[in-house]
Amino acid sequence: MEQDGISRRQLLGAAVVAAGLRRAGAEEARGAARSRESFDFGWMFARGDGAERSVDLPHDWSIEGPFDENAPASGPGAYLPTGIGWYRKHFRVPAGFEEKKLTIEFDGVYQNSEVWINGAYLGRRPYGYVPLAYDITPHVRFGGDNLVVVKVDNSRQTNCRWYSGSGIYRHTWLLATNRIHIGYWGTFVTTPRVAGDKATVQVETTVRNEAGGAARCTLTTAILDRGGREAGRAEASQQVAAGGNYRFVQQMVVESPKLWSDREPYLYRVHSTLRDAGGVVDEYDTPVGIREAVFDADRGFLLNGEAVKLNGVCLHQDAGCVGSAVPERMWERRLALLKEMGANAIRTSHNPYSAEFLDLCDRMGFLVMNEAFDEWRVPKGQIGPYGYSIYFDEWHERDLLNFIHRDRNHPSVVLWSAGNEIPDQQAPGGAETLRELLDIFHREDPTRVVTAACDHIESEPAGETARPEFLALLDVVGYNYVDRWRDRREKYYSIDRHRFPQRRVIGTESPSMAGIRGDYSGSEATRGFPGMPGHNLDVEQLWKFVRTYDYVAGDFMWTGIDYLGEEEWPMKGASAGVIDTCGFKKDGFYFYQSQWTGGPVLHLFPHWNWKGSPGRIVPVTCYTNCDTVELFLNGRSLGVKGYYFPRVGMEGRYNNYPARARVERTTSDLHLTWDVPYEAGTLRAVGTRDGKVAATLEVSTTGEPAAIALSVDRQTLAADRRDVAHVTVEIVDAQGRVVPTADNEVTFAIEGEARVIGVDNGNPASHESYQGNRRKAFNGMCLAMVGAAGKAGAIRVTASAEGLRPAMVEITGRAG
Ligand code: GAL
Repeated sequence: MEQDGISRRQLLGAAVVAAGLRRAGAEEARGAARSRESFDFGWMFARGDGAERSVDLPHDWSIEGPFDENAPASGPGAYLPTGIGWYRKHFRVPAGFEEKKLTIEFDGVYQNSEVWINGAYLGRRPYGYVPLAYDITPHVRFGGDNLVVVKVDNSRQTNCRWYSGSGIYRHTWLLATNRIHIGYWGTFVTTPRVAGDKATVQVETTVRNEAGGAARCTLTTAILDRGGREAGRAEASQQVAAGGNYRFVQQMVVESPKLWSDREPYLYRVHSTLRDAGGVVDEYDTPVGIREAVFDADRGFLLNGEAVKLNGVCLHQDAGCVGSAVPERMWERRLALLKEMGANAIRTSHNPYSAEFLDLCDRMGFLVMNEAFDEWRVPKGQIGPYGYSIYFDEWHERDLLNFIHRDRNHPSVVLWSAGNEIPDQQAPGGAETLRELLDIFHREDPTRVVTAACDHIESEPAGETARPEFLALLDVVGYNYVDRWRDRREKYYSIDRHRFPQRRVIGTESPSMAGIRGDYSGSEATRGFPGMPGHNLDVEQLWKFVRTYDYVAGDFMWTGIDYLGEEEWPMKGASAGVIDTCGFKKDGFYFYQSQWTGGPVLHLFPHWNWKGSPGRIVPVTCYTNCDTVELFLNGRSLGVKGYYFPRVGMEGRYNNYPARARVERTTSDLHLTWDVPYEAGTLRAVGTRDGKVAATLEVSTTGEPAAIALSVDRQTLAADRRDVAHVTVEIVDAQGRVVPTADNEVTFAIEGEARVIGVDNGNPASHESYQGNRRKAFNGMCLAMVGAAGKAGAIRVTASAEGLRPAMVEITGRAG
């Protein structure tokens, strides 16, 4: 039945609605006035003129591979296939729906989508990152078969600087409303006053009357807390002409509101009920957070009146082996890792993300810089000939409207970004384009400020040739890579601070403590010395500055997580992240965790498997927020070190050491290093706080790979064809220690109602397929993504490799 698009539940709902409409206000009408059902299942797909096969959405055909050095998408597109794809789906709409209005929704199609229903053309949409919807009511055969066809054209390459994926890579929905209904994205909830023990919540609701005659519409708006208790209510009535719209504006006072914040992301729900003379015609829920977000030239970012530093990460929307068709659970896990690291802010570089991504940010407490574009009118050399600039004139306003209307109710969104490193900034007419975009943002959302991530700040307005007009227009000036401006290296923002004291500033992009996970083979950063860990002093210098000066609202480092594309063969993905594409932590993760969180963090690198190198000096680096750390090799002390810079929560103290602490060396760096002559065995670090041991850690020389250790992030899966589990493989020695250089090939087998939807190891140079059931470990680890089928039952995942003891984990698929 679910293949049919409109399910039995919805059918029953329709009957109930009809009854409800006849018997004014009947209780059954509740919840059935509108239905929004997934439209993801039962599609047929073909690439170009290739064979058709069935697929579930979201679907990204690029990630199916293969990697090819000559692929038209080249480095930006991870050397994966692109081209043209066709999707079609048959569905039935029951008779009795004739009075309904039906809308088909696409959360994102990359790119150049065109849609037909029953042969009628619904339209095209070039931009692959915006949600779109079509009214299909006039074309639907009620009680009969319907066919929707979608053409996706990603053949013109290159058109993006990073991996975009190809296809209907986000969810699809079928929405049924009555002819009198709350408009599409028809609520706009703001919190104009958040003060003391009261908050004013304003709800603007657009009501559309697409019925034959005028109607008297009554809108009841209730604010419900987490437990469903009413915290505010308003009601108003209005005559709405046939074919007309009316915008209700209602204000409610919520007493003792629970405020939304990054630490306590409390959500209320606005429940809108629309009635006409016959009873309930629509019901609609909007999750909301009550919060006040302000950018201040002196105090930085203020959330509910308190200064909060935006400890941010830039991301791209893909997720390794699933490409751009990312199950929600994968982002939930990734965001949980970023939280664990202490990040509280995300920049959705450089395009609109999925709706569920922002829902997660609302629920998990992230502050979002929500970005629209990577290109306006002036083409960027690195994008290639087919970037957004060729669509900008015709589409930017419509794209922005969809973006803003969909996202403006999210409490997580605290800042809009009109674009990233936009060349128009340097070009004649650029300021006019910016003004036009700002006008749209301000008109559609007067409550939020707008930035742009700028890479050319140093050139203006330094001299006579400068273009000060561009930056002067921005509500908040976004600085990309302040660390790169050599003449300002010591000062970062401070010159501008004195030149433009009214300027509100934020670091929209900066380098991260990146690198390839577990790879100490020698890199540019280490001048080719193997065994030398990469540590970027610029990153810590910048963080010290940002942390010290209140006026800098925060910083978004590039990037939180590795992403595909933007690399040169043989690399197929960028290792800019501090978490790899599998979600495995790199050393850099612990740098941020040691700076952004309060709990004791103690991390050592590199590994201690330097076979055949006795006596060689290996620099051992420690990321910690302990007061002191003593390092031992095979029981011998290598000294006690500590740094002066106070840890989070210890501001105001010159250093962290109690008088009696034994500290032999201190540093003003944010990392500790010991040069250790290599000898096989165990490094042991002992961290203290307030003179007491707070954390210990051992890194040992391991034996040869002997076994597989498996772990899974959850014990149960929803049997809904969408839910996923992350099964992590570690290659361990006979004593169960991860062998940090192991690269054994692992084969996965599944019994039960699930399948492997992707395999990965985080190696940005690997050309192994992301599909299938085998993967080599990379520096000791790899991952299988297990996707639930539609039936409940036990699921067993077994991992085996030649010469190693296999392992098995069990998961339960639960009926939804
Ligand atoms: C930035 C750009 C990002 C990414 C990064 C790579 O300038 O905004 O999208 O390309 O460089 O280092």
